[in-house]
Amino acid sequence: MGTKTVRVGIVGASGYTGGELLRLLATHPRAEVTVATSREYAGQPISNVHFNLKGFLGGLKFSQLSIDQLIGKCDVVFTSTPSGVSKDLAPKLVEHGLRVIDLSPDFRLKDPKLYEYWYDFTHGAPDLLSKAVYGLPELHRADLSNARLVACPGCNATAALLSLIPAVESKLIDLDHIVVDVKVGSSEAGMKPTLGTHHPERANVMRPYEASGHRHVAEVEQELSMLSGRSVRVALVPHAVGAVRGALATSHVWLADSSTDEMTVWKAYAKRYGQEPFVRIVRGGRHPDPKYVTGSNFADVGMAVEQRIGRAALLAAIDNLMKGAAGQAVQCMNLVCGFDEREGLYAPPLRPV
Ligand SMILES: NC(=O)c1ccc[n+]([C@@H]2O[C@H](COP(=O)([O-])OP(=O)(O)OC[C@H]3O[C@@H](n4cnc5c(N)ncnc54)[C@H](OP(=O)(O)O)[C@@H]3O)[C@@H](O)[C@H]2O)c1
Repeated sequence: MGTKTVRVGIVGASGYTGGELLRLLATHPRAEVTVATSREYAGQPISNVHFNLKGFLGGLKFSQLSIDQLIGKCDVVFTSTPSGVSKDLAPKLVEHGLRVIDLSPDFRLKDPKLYEYWYDFTHGAPDLLSKAVYGLPELHRADLSNARLVACPGCNATAALLSLIPAVESKLIDLDHIVVDVKVGSSEAGMKPTLGTHHPERANVMRPYEASGHRHVAEVEQELSMLSGRSVRVALVPHAVGAVRGALATSHVWLADSSTDEMTVWKAYAKRYGQEPFVRIVRGGRHPDPKYVTGSNFADVGMAVEQRIGRAALLAAIDNLMKGAAGQAVQCMNLVCGFDEREGLYAPPLRPV
């Protein structure tokens, strides 16, 4: 696609990740948002829902979802819809030559049978699963530049994978015992309140949920298995905490060689992530904290090695709506379109928040 400006559509633009996509694309130098869909708010100005976007996007209004409109007005379409929507929509858009960047889980897993097990549906486009590129640039940058369909990772999965990739690649840890603990803020549950996610119910909680069998386990296992060339199983327990934004993964691992010290682990991370534009290594008396990546596409990664018991805690902090969703999706769009990966994204996090 060279370096021209791309016309962008967002399906599911009234939600939290859709709103964050609009915020990023409103000032992106190479993108123009031409379609933003919402069934509930069709016909209304964007700023009626996303109050922070008043004065941006040139009077764009939400529209009903129309495939013809997307095909006629867009080069790239983001789908920021609940699970089960894009699996039917994306094939039609890809068929018409559009690039699709899906934020939902519908194309993350390569094995169609896994959708029956983890997501309770039969996948209607299994051929596209093998063509979709898992949208974690730190793992699949080369493939993303040719992708027609990008399957962006879940927020918990992004944090878990970024905490673990260098340790797995460098064979520093026992792959049979990986335990990931994730703390995550309320915006990960989307904009529609439920009994568990409505703010008065969620504020001040420290609540484990889906403590066995969280769906993101499937994609973490898939990617770590591909990376290591063997089957990897992972235990992952997410915890709802009172913050609005942020996800922190603490991956408890056992060292393959119990004499491995923290400097060795740090060197592996520094080497692996040294050239990554959006991964920062935090050390020197501090650990990654989602508070200090808020509003940005950065992932802060760190480690703590306890040689006494041959164990390490590998840490990654992200903003779930940014590196965990919309920021990462725009990073993928930049790669798909041949733009500088940092375009429209390279800004420091907020402080204080
Ligand atoms: N929140 C996060 O931190 C996060 C992180 C990574 C990935 N994700 C994934 O991103 C996707 C969106 O999440 P979100 O948090 O932005 O959800 P959300 O706030 O609930 O927004 C969902 C959006 O999808 C639209 N929508 C719902 N059902 C639809 C349908 N059947 N057809 C077309 N549009 C439909 C909604 O608008 P209308 O109902 O008005 O059409 C709304 O704009 C989900 O798959 C989620 O798992 C979320």
